[in-house]
Amino acid sequence: MSLPKDMKAQVFYEPEKMKLERRPLPRIGPEEVLVRVHATGICGSDVAYYYGKSSLGTKTGKGPLVLGHEVSGTVEQVGDVAAMKGGLKPGDRVVVNPVQSNPDSPWTRRGLSNVDLGRVIGVSVDGGLADYCSSHWFWTVKIPPTMNLDHAASTEPLACAVYAVNKCQIEKGNFVVVFGPGPVGLMMVQLAKSKGAGKVLLVGTRDDRLDLGKKLGADLIANTKDGKSPHFLKDLGGFIRDQHGGELADRAIVATSSITAIETGLAITGRESTLVIFGLPGDQDVYKIPGLESMLMDKTIRFSWLAPNTWPEAVDAIATGKVKLEPIQTHHMPLKELPEAIQRLRDREDKTIKTLISVTEN
Ligand SMILES: NC(=O)c1ccc[n+]([C@@H]2O[C@H](COP(=O)([O-])OP(=O)(O)OC[C@H]3O[C@@H](n4cnc5c(N)ncnc54)[C@H](OP(=O)(O)O)[C@@H]3O)[C@@H](O)[C@H]2O)c1
Repeated sequence: MSLPKDMKAQVFYEPEKMKLERRPLPRIGPEEVLVRVHATGICGSDVAYYYGKSSLGTKTGKGPLVLGHEVSGTVEQVGDVAAMKGGLKPGDRVVVNPVQSNPDSPWTRRGLSNVDLGRVIGVSVDGGLADYCSSHWFWTVKIPPTMNLDHAASTEPLACAVYAVNKCQIEKGNFVVVFGPGPVGLMMVQLAKSKGAGKVLLVGTRDDRLDLGKKLGADLIANTKDGKSPHFLKDLGGFIRDQHGGELADRAIVATSSITAIETGLAITGRESTLVIFGLPGDQDVYKIPGLESMLMDKTIRFSWLAPNTWPEAVDAIATGKVKLEPIQTHHMPLKELPEAIQRLRDREDKTIKTLISVTEN
């Protein structure tokens, strides 16, 4: 099939300035494939870039750049090396791992591309909020023929969730607390249950998200902000002890950037517990850790960054229905309405949780 000469792309120039333009298609190198984008999810970091709260990964830290790093689509064109080494061919249904570090770097060879970042699609080079994007073959992941391409567009955040939950090392019957019922926290609840957690308690600030968490498998929910909520809880530690035979939580994951949540996570985890910090901090953020108490409880505190080696597990979790994404992907909008979609997500308008931009359909 012959390719069009140009394509639609939403180009981000500077805070709150984005333009829908016609642009030439990306030219691919021998190691790359050209992906016809099906859908691209909007992440909280896209919202931060759009409003100037976070710098891009470009040389200047600024636009112009096509955002979008949660991409699913179909391969349209394949470079020679990509065909030979990656076995990719036109028509393959794929997801794009945006963190495209050098496959030959020592860290990537060790399975830790997350600590040796190269180019990042939609952050340092043009991404998936356009009809087409290019991707290195090594980071282009084939998906099963029956896997829904909308669901596939959330493989990236799910792969990050898998990495964090694996770091939590959940044991059968553990009492697990997930802070932050955003798209990622709602995926973590489902993963924690599938790893054998006994009770999962989801903690958040909005009842609509917490109620969805319950439908997705959380045994218990707690709202720590809204005093009018029927789920409002002041004494989270006391509640956990009541539910867990007098003990504090065995495992906790903090999937919000709130420092209060991290400090609460430290307070409600108990003996031989593990706390995984996942929410992205600001560059000046500093946490306080109660030293002696953490030591005497023999706690493990871990950070979790990106998803260096969990893409196959994430694809499998979607394909087998272990993690349900449809209820989390609450909104689907066309590419031309991207700025409005970003604003609505920031303002949590209409109970938005995850917005997918349906690129193919417009
Ligand atoms: N480490 C990594 O590799 C990685 C990868 C991807 C994303 N992240 C980060 O992970 C976090 C979660 O991502 P997301 O897309 O799910 O974000 P999100 O949509 O912002 O969800 C976070 C949720 O946490 C809630 N929250 C705020 N303060 C809280 C508190 N004190 N206790 C409990 N919940 C609280 C928020 O409530 P409101 O609606 O009231 O704000 C929101 O519902 C973000 O910080 C994101 O930047 C990290």
